Amino acid sequence: MAILKIARMGHPVLARPAPPVADPGDPEIARLIVDMIETLEDAGGVGLAATQVHVPTRLVMFFVPAARAAAEDGAAEGEGGVPFTVLINPEIEPLGETMVAGWEGCLSVPGLRGLVPRHDHIRYRGLAPDGSLIEREARGFHARVVQHECDHLDGVLYPQRMTDLSRLVFESEFRHQTAAAPDGDGADDEEVA
Ligand code: NI
Repeated sequence: MAILKIARMGHPVLARPAPPVADPGDPEIARLIVDMIETLEDAGGVGLAATQVHVPTRLVMFFVPAARAAAEDGAAEGEGGVPFTVLINPEIEPLGETMVAGWEGCLSVPGLRGLVPRHDHIRYRGLAPDGSLIEREARGFHARVVQHECDHLDGVLYPQRMTDLSRLVFESEFRHQTAAAPDGDGADDEEVA
């Protein structure tokens, strides 16, 4: 196990589309997953893409804390979080036209938060580490995290998705943005991915 170095905005590995994983059963992929889990736990985020640890391949991991899911507008009563998920060669299909703005942070863009429009409702699919197919529908924060992570595999960082750069702020000033977000997200809700 090892904590991997996280690439930061400006490193070319974050700006290039990554090729697919050829063999999900490759021992190198298994080792990468173990190291990425340790890296994510150390960094304290909710998601991580392989490109963020300087490995250009299509693999992401994420989870949605139950408290975060419960805070979601429109979440079903008693709806829980999303268990920790590793997704290999993920694909996203937007469902509907609705876009929602929410605050995001990124381990590769440390110290900043930005208000980012994302599809509210998506379907995504990919392979689990055991090669089985994962296919889910997601809304809200769950959909946001998946879109954020998969963007990393296409060389896109969240500031590139922003439509109003006046809403790109330092974490230390983030409290001034509380209750200012159109979807009601407040300063306590942000997570880094
Ligand atoms: Ni990120």
